Amino acid sequence: MLNGIGNIAYLGASTLFILSLRGLSHPTSARRGNLYGAAGMLIAVVATLIIAQGAGIEVVLAAAVIGAAVGALLARRVEMTQMPQLVAILHSFVGLAAVLIGFTNYLMPAGEFGGAERVIHLSEIYLGVFIGTITFTGSIVAFLKLQGTISGKPLVIPGRHLLNLLVLVLCVAIGYRFLSVPSGAEGIGALLVMIVLAAALGVHLVMAIGGADMPVVVSMLNSYSGWAAAATGFMLSNDLLITTGALVGSSGAILSYIMCRAMNRSFISVILGGFGAASGTSSADIAGEVVATSVDEVSAILRDASEVIIVPGYGMAVAQAQTTISEITRKLDSLGVRVRFGIHPVAGRLPGHMNVLLAEAKVPYDIVLEMDEINEDFTNTDVVLVIGANDIVNPGALEDPGSPIAGMPVLEVWKARTVVVSKRSMATGYAGVDNPLFYKDNTRMLFGDAKGSVDALLRQLDA
Ligand code: TAP
Repeated sequence: MLNGIGNIAYLGASTLFILSLRGLSHPTSARRGNLYGAAGMLIAVVATLIIAQGAGIEVVLAAAVIGAAVGALLARRVEMTQMPQLVAILHSFVGLAAVLIGFTNYLMPAGEFGGAERVIHLSEIYLGVFIGTITFTGSIVAFLKLQGTISGKPLVIPGRHLLNLLVLVLCVAIGYRFLSVPSGAEGIGALLVMIVLAAALGVHLVMAIGGADMPVVVSMLNSYSGWAAAATGFMLSNDLLITTGALVGSSGAILSYIMCRAMNRSFISVILGGFGAASGTSSADIAGEVVATSVDEVSAILRDASEVIIVPGYGMAVAQAQTTISEITRKLDSLGVRVRFGIHPVAGRLPGHMNVLLAEAKVPYDIVLEMDEINEDFTNTDVVLVIGANDIVNPGALEDPGSPIAGMPVLEVWKARTVVVSKRSMATGYAGVDNPLFYKDNTRMLFGDAKGSVDALLRQLDA
């Protein structure tokens, strides 16, 4: 009876997870999608407790209270710009959970399994622990890279692909041994050796990936964490975990693919790493002069314009300038200037970062356009306002084959009549590459914190 109720609840939770993913695919329905996801998770936890008939309820409740408190505190404290780090560390928890559950499952008596069933069960344990370990250590390295604790530069060891392949083959061989020995000390030993090897593989795989590819890596680790959960689901014969794991695994893989396409990178080359190692053009090699401008001048150029495109980047998020930018948009609209936004797929530090901030600031969705929709329009644009963006508007990506971001499609803002770049200094962006845009004849640099600059600009436009 209880099992029946639990299974129906599992079905409900799975449906809510699917609706959640659907909702999250568009900013207008994202909030609803989030609610569906949270409701699905609540149902899933309660249903699991029902199915377990309250076994170990005190420990589960204590862990849930502590976990919820830590989660709520972290979610409140974390800045939007630190989201990728948070996501990376959360993936590491999923990986660690898969390893611990797999290990515990192996230690538990598997009396009911025999013959082929035993082989399948042990394979599920082995695979879950293997993917979980790679996800765990890979996500920790991704976290440290995104946090800036370790360098974002790819670690390129000679013969690294061969080394990875060797570790993989070794893990398969150990897996074969693991399946053939009777459960006990020898099996535990095999599992532990594989964990050490997979941990090193996870570290090495992500260490080899350069800063420019980190967005793809985070979504790839998201996918791995889903598959680790699905393998754990098979091991525990838990349908909900299998469905949820498969949903996370496949949606993470699809997102990685979309991001690879947006950055003109093949999935395989991202996984193999090494991208971002080239040195590219340094500021000393760039011809042209940097011309600084003032708020007064920018206000005058904007008043004279009829077509304006705003390109926001990571710096807008850091400065929290989106609300003022939204007001500037309304002001310019009232002055008869047509304003639109150009969004690069990897602007900021997480997928959809700019869309979320602009939606929060009540910028209408219909003037927020994706890169592909707006890239051709820069030629007919009077002014482009680049707010705290750098890599996503770097012409070097198209013109300099030695650039670490060579081949990545960018917003071709330099084709507009005038480009105004709001940032604090000549510092590079995430990929650490100098930007020839800042030296072009039609570029004007508006130096200063983006919030301070756009606040002053709005005052000037209002005057
Ligand atoms: P970036 O290339 O990182 O450039 C941001 C610029 O903002 C910096 O050059 C910085 O220059 C400026 N800035 C920082 N704080 C500012 C402030 N308070 N006021 C004004 N300007 C400020 O950002 P982007 O153009 O958005 O490109 C995104 C980069 O991040 C890409 O390389 C992408 O691959 C990577 N990435 C993306 C994601 C996703 S999924 N979106 C995830 C991880 C990494 P100053 O210091 O001179 O002000």
